[in-house]
Amino acid sequence: MPVRVLDRLEELYAIGGGDGANRIGGSAEEDQAHELAARWMTEAGLRVEVDAAGNLIGRSGTDTVWTGSHLDSVPNGGKFDGALGVVAGIEAVERAGTGAVVAFRDEERGCTGSTAFVQAGALPACFFELHIEQGPVLAEAGAPLGVVTGIVGMVRGTRTFDGIPGHAGTVPMSRRSDALVAAADYVLRVRDVATAIDGAVATVGRLDVEPGAVNVIPDRVTLSVDARAPDAERLDRLARELELEPDFPLDPVMLHEAPRAAFRAELEARDQPVVELPSGAGHDAAVLALAGVPSGMLFVRSLNGGVSHSPAELSSSEDIALAVEVLTGALGRLAASD
Ligand code: GLV
Ligand code: MN
Ligand code: MN
Repeated sequence: MPVRVLDRLEELYAIGGGDGANRIGGSAEEDQAHELAARWMTEAGLRVEVDAAGNLIGRSGTDTVWTGSHLDSVPNGGKFDGALGVVAGIEAVERAGTGAVVAFRDEERGCTGSTAFVQAGALPACFFELHIEQGPVLAEAGAPLGVVTGIVGMVRGTRTFDGIPGHAGTVPMSRRSDALVAAADYVLRVRDVATAIDGAVATVGRLDVEPGAVNVIPDRVTLSVDARAPDAERLDRLARELELEPDFPLDPVMLHEAPRAAFRAELEARDQPVVELPSGAGHDAAVLALAGVPSGMLFVRSLNGGVSHSPAELSSSEDIALAVEVLTGALGRLAASD
């Protein structure tokens, strides 16, 4: 079994070529990944459908308990982020003979698919997401798997800085209004504000400089801000101090007791350590949990120091095999209690 899961992860990883996973939300490469997964769902005997937002769903038996994740990636992303939860989910639903597996669209840029899914209103009774940890906690604890307690809140937005364009050689330094210099001050403020709030992080990951010529003083800079904190109070403070009008807010959320207990029970039944940990990454499970769907997440140990959003992202085949077993067991457990 793990061989099939690993082969499928390789197949998804090869889409688009280049360094790492390159399946940006809304791209032809994301479409190609969904077509592949639809074929695997059909081969698993699942009833396959695509919803109005393009999310791919495969159902088996009584489909009250759902699992899944996303197939899009960041540029030059890892092999496991998102893809593992879909590929392992197909395996688990086939084995359990019950439940549904979903591949949500466009998670990385703002959980577009799962947001449309919850807005459409036909909510599952329960949702499980299996995901690579993307951090070092499980490896340091010597635990292959971990149960997620809650998911960080985040705000994303853009800021624009205006200046006056001019000749790079003739405008004296004292007369300049350089948009990039103003943006640079703000980038440093982002670092300082997040550092001053316990548990907060913030990142400027994209910078568009206009007109973008080596010998023209920049007159406009637009930059992206991604700011995160573990609770609403700290997230509000972060957004306020960074003067952010978020275009993508995701509230912090605690995951539900029933799916967490199902994962713990499956780990205990296999004499595995039970480690519970928060998630600093955003996930589709947060969107479902915030919509009131009892949701749980199972993390698989990250190797290579927990690096993620990078081609160096890694989990072992043994840990993945165990994760599929635990997910299958948890699906069966909650389906039986439904
Ligand atoms: C999703 O990977 C995120 O940005 O947390
Ligand atoms: Mn992910
Ligand atoms: Mn990601």
